[in-house]
Amino acid sequence: MTEAAARPPGGGASISISHVGMTYQRRGARVDALTDVSLDIAAGSFVSILGPSGCGKSTLMMLAAGLYRPSSGELRIDGKLLEDCFTDAGIVFQTDVLLPWLSILDNVVMPARIKRLDLEAATKQGRALLAQVGLGGFEANYPSELSGGMRQRAAICRALLCEPSVLFMDEPFGALDALTRERMQADINRLWAEHRKTVLLITHDIEEAVLLSDEVVVMSPRPGRILRRFRVDLPQPREPAIRRDPRFHGIVDDIRALFRDAGVL
Ligand SMILES: Nc1ncnc2c1ncn2[C@@H]1O[C@H](COP(=O)(O)OP(=O)(O)OP(=O)(O)O)[C@@H](O)[C@H]1O
Ligand SMILES: [Mg+2]
Repeated sequence: MTEAAARPPGGGASISISHVGMTYQRRGARVDALTDVSLDIAAGSFVSILGPSGCGKSTLMMLAAGLYRPSSGELRIDGKLLEDCFTDAGIVFQTDVLLPWLSILDNVVMPARIKRLDLEAATKQGRALLAQVGLGGFEANYPSELSGGMRQRAAICRALLCEPSVLFMDEPFGALDALTRERMQADINRLWAEHRKTVLLITHDIEEAVLLSDEVVVMSPRPGRILRRFRVDLPQPREPAIRRDPRFHGIVDDIRALFRDAGVL
């Protein structure tokens, strides 16, 4: 099957992580961050990685984005060995990293400028994405004129601008207050339902992971390895009321029990 034929209509890519280990060497010291991690992420699925601080979640994301090379094992995107930076990806970090001297719209359109794409089409797409996350009317504002949640929504629009086949998000809502976080979770769920790209979300928040994902991958303390994978067979897109569903609580409780057994909670 060709790469294109292997993808669902949304155009997400599959990610295959096979026996990956990662050891950092710094000033003579070795840190084993990941050990023997194998994970297949289906094209168009939403997968969350949950694990204690320092267990290698960000490392795993950087490896999957091709920004780091693994010490052992291999990664494949749509079956193709990942040997360089994975350019068809959007990344959202914990802080928005918007450029303060550019307007919100110019920040969102920046990836198209870097990739030398049609700026008129990109600007149209940027405006549409901003409208989708409730930022219509703020296109000309500068990042300093927006709240943290608004800036992070703009950062998500920037990551989605070029219709990447994978969206990586590393604790994207970590710095936000609880109410803004809930709003952002709803935004992400709706955007994912519309775009159907592959999403890899890193979070510390068990309920957030279960709320948004098709699958939750739970990692052990460092050196990180996969303890268990939980399928979340709840209807998508997820309505806020799903938080009251006994099946939702069942999965959350099972994950908590696993963390307790692993000495994390
Ligand atoms: N560039 C680096 N050089 C050396 N060691 C690193 C580097 N990046 C991460 N580490 C180490 O690797 C381990 C895993 O780090 P990583 O940032 O992947 O964890 P994490 O699960 O994302 O943690 P957190 O939840 O706190 O963000 C940590 O012990 C960290 O100190
Ligand atoms: Mg991290």
